[in-house]
Amino acid sequence: MTHNLNVFAQLEPALRLPDLKQALYDADPIFLPTTVVSLHGDEHKEKRRVVQSLFTREFFRNYQNKVFPNALKETLEPVVAEGRGDLSKFAYRVLVNLVADASGLDRDHTQEQTDKILLIIGKLGKAPTMGQMIGGNREAAIAEIVDALRIFRESYYEHSAARRRALIAAREKDPSVELPDDMLTRLLQAFDGRIEEDQLVRDTAFFILAGAFTMANGLQNTMWEILSWCKKHPETRQKLLDDPGLMQKFVWEALRLHPASPVARRKALCPVHLPNGETAAEAEIVDINIAQGNRDPSVFGPDAAEYNPFRELPRKVQLHGMTFGAGMHACVGRILAAGIPYGAGMEVDEGTEYGTIHLVVHALLSAGADFDPANPPTIDESTTRKHFHSFPFVVRKAG
Ligand code: HEM
Repeated sequence: MTHNLNVFAQLEPALRLPDLKQALYDADPIFLPTTVVSLHGDEHKEKRRVVQSLFTREFFRNYQNKVFPNALKETLEPVVAEGRGDLSKFAYRVLVNLVADASGLDRDHTQEQTDKILLIIGKLGKAPTMGQMIGGNREAAIAEIVDALRIFRESYYEHSAARRRALIAAREKDPSVELPDDMLTRLLQAFDGRIEEDQLVRDTAFFILAGAFTMANGLQNTMWEILSWCKKHPETRQKLLDDPGLMQKFVWEALRLHPASPVARRKALCPVHLPNGETAAEAEIVDINIAQGNRDPSVFGPDAAEYNPFRELPRKVQLHGMTFGAGMHACVGRILAAGIPYGAGMEVDEGTEYGTIHLVVHALLSAGADFDPANPPTIDESTTRKHFHSFPFVVRKAG
């Protein structure tokens, strides 16, 4: 039997139940089940501590002020020169470069390399949906993932890990040697020699997938909602550019309506009492429906299913709802993606964490991004997530 939780107030308590184990990726035999998002108990705690240790204030500042502007410039310049772009490609190009830097992949930043990582992510992206595949499709997906991990290892992981290993060894002799601040360095420091190399490859590849896929989806949905809003309320565009708090509301409201991971799936390790009053017997599945809970009218009001960044919320409820999960697997990249809650009267400086989606949306709106009137976005209707086949947009031409 599968238990379904979809009332907002039940989502977080369910995600915090210690005897419910990750089950969303059980159908994938090779990639996700051994990464942090699937581990349980002490094994999970240890790996999560390492992953989380990357996200310090210093990391955010460096990322926002140094890494981000370069990655953005690289991707935005050709679009501005052309006067147009396709957000379904632009989003991945800009975000994959950012996440690849945070992961610790040494690259020469050519378009060709970016496209190669995108190809790898496209193949690895089959893993989360393998549960719904049958027969030949499943065999083909497994072959693609094996292939993607091989290309990832040969093209990015091996030389990046070798350089970091050499630096870690040099630092043991000379503490003044500086280490890169990225995921791969942290993983090597914690686990090198203790877990097999292929596992380190999977851990690094998962980090890229978790960051790029979700943020690209969030960015496209946010731009779609904001541009649709600005069509009806043209005066909002300038206000969004001037007021970071207002922009955050617009981003978070879009993330509430379009969670990248609509359902969290768990399996009971023993009989477990659920927040909806049911008891899950051992090995039964519990589906925690984030997408539906995020539209619960008892929390978000009678217009919960609509885009309204100005809605009033009960205390302690964030406008992005449960989009980043909660409990042991709560998203470690939340601040990187969506920033810290922006409060009235908050002191703002160059280190204020607005989050990556906020920064990219700001850059796009500043460049005058708008729907392309001749080419409306096309949406893939085959999945419950709102996923864009194409999202043409125009910007002001440079010069
Ligand atoms: C809009 C962007 C994002 C969304 C909506 C999102 C959503 C989520 C959700 C719902 C989970 C929990 C999954 C579960 O409970 O089964 C999760 C976990 C995770 N996320 Fe994110 N995420 C985003 C961005 C990022 C970024 C940018 C990174 C890293 C660069 C990241 C890294 C992770 C990791 C490592 C986990 C696993 C944590 C663990 O299992 O302990 N995410 N994310």
